[in-house]
Amino acid sequence: MYSIFTSMKVFSDHWVGHPSLNKYGLHRKRLKVAQAISNFRRAQTVRVRDAHEQRLMDDGFVAIENFLPDAEFAALRDECHAAAEAAETANPPPEKPEVMGFGDSDRHDWGFDRFDGSTLNRFINPGPIAAAFPRNGRFKRLARLVCGKTMSARRNWLYQTINGDEREFHDQQREFHRDTFFNCMKYWYFIDPVTEDDGPFVYVPGSHKLTPERMAWEEKKAEAAVEARVEWERRTAAGESSPTRAGMTGSFRIEEEEFAEMDLPEPQAYPVPGNTLVVANVFGFHRRGDAVPGTRRLSLYGNHRPQPFIPIGS
Ligand SMILES: [Fe+2]
Repeated sequence: MYSIFTSMKVFSDHWVGHPSLNKYGLHRKRLKVAQAISNFRRAQTVRVRDAHEQRLMDDGFVAIENFLPDAEFAALRDECHAAAEAAETANPPPEKPEVMGFGDSDRHDWGFDRFDGSTLNRFINPGPIAAAFPRNGRFKRLARLVCGKTMSARRNWLYQTINGDEREFHDQQREFHRDTFFNCMKYWYFIDPVTEDDGPFVYVPGSHKLTPERMAWEEKKAEAAVEARVEWERRTAAGESSPTRAGMTGSFRIEEEEFAEMDLPEPQAYPVPGNTLVVANVFGFHRRGDAVPGTRRLSLYGNHRPQPFIPIGS
């Protein structure tokens, strides 16, 4: 029962995907309570004070150019370039994944590599200037606006994305989805510019709001995930060696045609110059943009997903 009160999102979990509990509205209740708690935590910790913060509240997304003063940016950029080059010298990036889908982490002294389909993600240990980034006062306020909590510095990486060939190994992060069932934040502080070719972040403005249309969609997806779980249990009981677990994921996918049905606008891609901070509430719909194989992105990155049912802000 405990898992219901945590961030657990997969429907293969005994309680989260429990058919009877879901018949009585478990998914709906988890969403509503988590939403109320993040609003309560936000109210404890921060009030909107400028246009960027208002944009994040309204759209679920904001890109702030020239985020750091020039001299600070230059020092951080040099440190990040040196770290990325050192990782490249120690371990030249592998060209192709060995398996489809999300790969395992390949650990090194400097961090680790992980493929999402054809996309190579290099998570590089941040240097001292990069490691201090989450302590930036403006950044902390944005994290609180999304979740009502500041982000742990341990969730912070120097992150290099190397785009591969989609035709060979599909990257599931290029499909529209929402990460989980409650407000949570991802950020990218781009060191180098991101062009249309480099796979810019794509977001559907306003899709972080829990409207009645969104709730209906959530319930429909949860119902399908419960059905997938019942089918998986049936096949397991019938002795099938490894029946598919597809369909039980908690990161619900969405087709582009569904946005209009939910009164949402067109998705927008966000190519940005270097020294731009991108913050997104990834309860909203998003994806990694299409890219030319071989192109790269370099950013600081963090995944801020605090437990959704703890009512104390920080
Ligand atoms: Fe995502």
